[in-house]
Amino acid sequence: MVSDPKDGSIRSLLQKGENSLLEAGIEESREETLRILEVLGISRTSVYLGGERKVSEEEERRFLKIVGERMTRRPLAYILGETCFREETLWVNEHCLIPRPETEILVEKVIAAIREKRRIFCKSPAGKNGRMGSGDNLIRKFSFLDIGTGTGAIAISLLRTFSNAEGTLLDISREAIEVARRNVQKYGLEGRARLIPGDFFKLSQGPAESDTPRFVFDVIVSNPPYLSELDLQNIQPELKYEPREALDGGKDGLHFYRRLIPLAKGRLRAGGLLALEVGAGQSGMVSKWLQDAGYDSIHRFEDYLGIERVVTAWNDKRN
Ligand SMILES: C[S@@+](CC[C@H](N)C(=O)[O-])C[C@H]1O[C@@H](n2cnc3c(N)ncnc32)[C@H](O)[C@@H]1O
Repeated sequence: MVSDPKDGSIRSLLQKGENSLLEAGIEESREETLRILEVLGISRTSVYLGGERKVSEEEERRFLKIVGERMTRRPLAYILGETCFREETLWVNEHCLIPRPETEILVEKVIAAIREKRRIFCKSPAGKNGRMGSGDNLIRKFSFLDIGTGTGAIAISLLRTFSNAEGTLLDISREAIEVARRNVQKYGLEGRARLIPGDFFKLSQGPAESDTPRFVFDVIVSNPPYLSELDLQNIQPELKYEPREALDGGKDGLHFYRRLIPLAKGRLRAGGLLALEVGAGQSGMVSKWLQDAGYDSIHRFEDYLGIERVVTAWNDKRN
């Protein structure tokens, strides 16, 4: 049913928002309008139940302000200052990339790989009665490094999944590290999270144990910048608001993988896991470099669109 856009009801607001966002070229206009209403305290249920309730002038004013700002193509997550990632709602600002649904796949694959290779992380390979246990409680304490943590999305998800994990959250951007710190605090994870502002390439030079104590890990995970020069010329308007150092993967988009893969090997314990998110068409080259660097059991995983988006590999031998 089409409502009178001036009748002051939730339904009319929804229609107004949706039309305005569509006009601005935003595809997910309905979903985003529902999200804006939600943030203003108007639940999806009240919309689906008919949306007849009249909104207050203040609610309408706030709604129209957000919609107006979104029409400039500034991403909704930056306007609202928060975004959802898996089961978490994270603080976000223009200093960090907005976590994407594809990265949830990276996290899921890391979780599955850790659980599957429990022998690596187990206190002992068998339980009391000689059988493997099924819960994560059998996994010994393990450490991971999240290179380019941004909001801390990947690390926070892992820390919340594995109570026996200790995470190092690293980012070249000091401002991003401050956002990650807020998110770590929000979920009470300070005791198991180490936040480091810094450049992975600088920190990982030199001998593994001596120069930077504790800079060796059981798991290294990263969603590095992977857009090529050409990709960056053709980005959608929203991406212009995101930090360049979170997107720019050099001329061919592969700059980070080329350097990160051999360096990460020197920072992984024997039996450790490296898991990377990759851009469309990059998984082949990344897998080859992993093989060349001596990693084992290299696996590629597709995203919801059938694009190979995650590559995992194990460091089964001593470095
Ligand atoms: C694609 S974003 C990923 C952010 C977050 N992990 C996520 O998945 O939402 C890449 C991140 O890498 C950081 N970064 C870029 N170069 C880096 C470097 N040399 N060392 C550490 N972090 C770096 C950027 O600041 C950015 O936060």
